Amino acid sequence: NIFSQVIKPFIHSCNRFFSCEGGATGFKVAIAGASGGIGQPLSMLMKINPFVKELSLFDLLHTPGVAADLSHIETPCKVKAFMGSDQRCEALKDANVIIIPAGVPRKPGMTRDDLFNVNATIIKELAEAAAEVAPKALIAIITNPLNSVVPIACEVMKKANKFDPRRIFGVTTLDIVRTNTFVADAMKINPKEVNVPVIGGHAGNTIIPLFSRSKPHVSFSDEQIIAMTKRIQNAGTEVVQAKAGAGSATLSMAYAAARFANALMRGLSGEENVMECSYVATDCGEASYFSTPLVLGKDGVKENFGHGELNDFEKQEVETAIPVLIKNIKAGVDFVNKSK
Ligand code: NAD
Ligand code: LMR
Repeated sequence: NIFSQVIKPFIHSCNRFFSCEGGATGFKVAIAGASGGIGQPLSMLMKINPFVKELSLFDLLHTPGVAADLSHIETPCKVKAFMGSDQRCEALKDANVIIIPAGVPRKPGMTRDDLFNVNATIIKELAEAAAEVAPKALIAIITNPLNSVVPIACEVMKKANKFDPRRIFGVTTLDIVRTNTFVADAMKINPKEVNVPVIGGHAGNTIIPLFSRSKPHVSFSDEQIIAMTKRIQNAGTEVVQAKAGAGSATLSMAYAAARFANALMRGLSGEENVMECSYVATDCGEASYFSTPLVLGKDGVKENFGHGELNDFEKQEVETAIPVLIKNIKAGVDFVNKSK
């Protein structure tokens, strides 16, 4: 049947990122923004993920149709639809993992910060609901501007006395996925063999690939490193321009979010040594939120290694990123403090 002929081999072939060693465990995953450009393909990838026993789809629009469609896929995961603000809490209730791609995307000419006014409120409302009905959930935020909305979610949790810095993540996995792809292209090797950590934040020059820690080792010239870094920092804009007004990255983002959510669930299920980079609250550096390689476990972040050894170019990139991040973080914190 299709499951054994198509889905199982698919999952097997993606084994590096979609492995399910704790297959007996099943988790409830809620997706807020499930009807959108990212939300729909991400919902499908969660429907075929063997870790997921229940999928709760929340959006202001269209979730009954998306859920009906997905529910015909022959995997055991149950799909439920929730639509409209009145159903926000019901949708998130007791979720183990909440993934948030809710919010508006960029159009050509816009920065991610231009999305702040609309998306800040959306994240605040979702975090308030999560604090009330799923305070133990691992929350993976995709919405932009990521550098500011992750602090918004954390401040909301603090206000509700539910803040646990191990449980709130900004998803930067697309930056790693892109870096691995571009490096593999340049080296003419299989992207599956490449792993480059990307630290900092998720906008322009706050995105910092660490080629000094690339696996396998890269021997690019300084000019190549500078050009590759610029391309990675501009990759979101590359997609926004190619889509010419129809939004930003959706399919590659759904893939990246599915890889990250799978890693969260591998950690939840007790698998050891699950590592991903993510933008989290930290006291490791000058910025109070920073993406670094993390070990994931049963309560979310098990260990944060900080950014570790950097070469001179990478140190300079971090120096440049810090003031930008501090400003972005302050915008998020101020937004929550000013609102009632
Ligand atoms: P989209 O417009 O296609 O989908 C967004 C969905 O969110 C829509 O279905 C909309 O109805 C829903 N929504 C709006 N307000 C909501 C609310 N209050 N509650 C629940 N759902 C709500 O946009 P998209 O292309 O899917 O992008 C979504 C977000 O992800 C954007 O902010 C975009 O910038 C961001 N993004 C981040 C990354 C990353 O690497 N972190 C990558 C790509 C896109
Ligand atoms: C991306 O990097 O693709 C996302 O942050 C979307 C965007 O606006 O660039």
